[in-house]
Amino acid sequence: MNNQNYISLSEPFLQGNEKKYVNECLDSGWISALGKFVTDFERNFASYTGSQYAVAVVNGTSALHLALLTAGVSANDEVFIPTLTFIAPVNAISYANAHPVFIDIDNKTLGISPDAVEEFISENCDYKNGVLTNRLTGRKISAIISVHILGHSCRMAEIRELAEKYKLKWIEDAAEAIGTLCDGKHAGTFAEIGCFSFNGNKTLTTGGGGMLVTDNEYLAKRLRHLSTQAKSDELYYTHDFVGYNYRMSNIQAAIGLAQLEYIEKTIAAKREIQARYTKEFGSIEGISIFNEQPWCRSNCWLSLISFTSDRRADFISFMQSKGIQVRPLWELNNRHPMYKNCSHGNLSNAENLYEKSVCIPCSQKMTMADTDRVIAAVKSFIKA
Ligand SMILES: Cc1ncc(COP(=O)(O)O)c(C=O)c1O
Repeated sequence: MNNQNYISLSEPFLQGNEKKYVNECLDSGWISALGKFVTDFERNFASYTGSQYAVAVVNGTSALHLALLTAGVSANDEVFIPTLTFIAPVNAISYANAHPVFIDIDNKTLGISPDAVEEFISENCDYKNGVLTNRLTGRKISAIISVHILGHSCRMAEIRELAEKYKLKWIEDAAEAIGTLCDGKHAGTFAEIGCFSFNGNKTLTTGGGGMLVTDNEYLAKRLRHLSTQAKSDELYYTHDFVGYNYRMSNIQAAIGLAQLEYIEKTIAAKREIQARYTKEFGSIEGISIFNEQPWCRSNCWLSLISFTSDRRADFISFMQSKGIQVRPLWELNNRHPMYKNCSHGNLSNAENLYEKSVCIPCSQKMTMADTDRVIAAVKSFIKA
């Protein structure tokens, strides 16, 4: 199989003004962390998502780190997080010297289950004077991170209720969910702070990059300040906090701005691929395809199929032999050596889904013929 015929899960597809804008950076010499494209990208991203403020950073992980620090998660606090997610938000909790509490997922959305959070609280926590304490560790649980998985929205109204009821800071990890809508509102704009990733495999990519959005002016200023080494005087280089070198470069922003101009076209192409999979796989016995809830418009970052019996490993080898990239979901975070002693609730939904499911390509770059090839390969594996 030559490389041209290889079908990747999700690849960059640069088809707009990317080259033109990057050339403007190169011609003008504005290639670093300041410049017109950073400002334009932030402004247009805020406008696209319906946020008041946007702050561009070097990647989604740094966005999550700053969000936790700015929301007021303190050292030794604990944070609710779904066990089924890419590890970045869990590591960000560690960077803030806090600890994760792993929660199960909701099968219909793949996001953190509000019912499972309530169950963990009723079995293991005390709530007194506005403070939620984990009896298993004696620590305060101060925040919840809802992660939108594979582009599908979490159950936002119920997560909001939980956050209000237990006075939890709420951060949204929308790294995989640019353009995803929940009841018509953009993922990333429900919590006080939302975080996005523009990693190479994301729906909008800047090679590597991230964005924070918020409607709170104070938080926006704080996020920007912390992302620029907390510099308080431009001339004399005074600093009033331990800051970070997290600002996005003008070159990255130039690529992001160009991609944002046609983001709806990108999402439409991915939704089309997902619709074809749904049509073709919907009635096949032995597999099911994950689909959006009626209140959600998913950006269909990746498509997910699940087997009724554990054929995951065989399926992965089979698809690889056909030159098609597929991938299991992420190993559950409570199983990693550095997190295996953290508190967790019942995780049976996540365990079950992880064992049986595989992500299949949903790349805007795919042609009809590519999608046909994926469909034919899946069907021939099922028949075998
Ligand atoms: C859910 C989630 N959160 C955070 C990140 C981290 O983003 P980045 O790779 O830009 O640091 C990613 C993906 O990369 C992700 O999938």
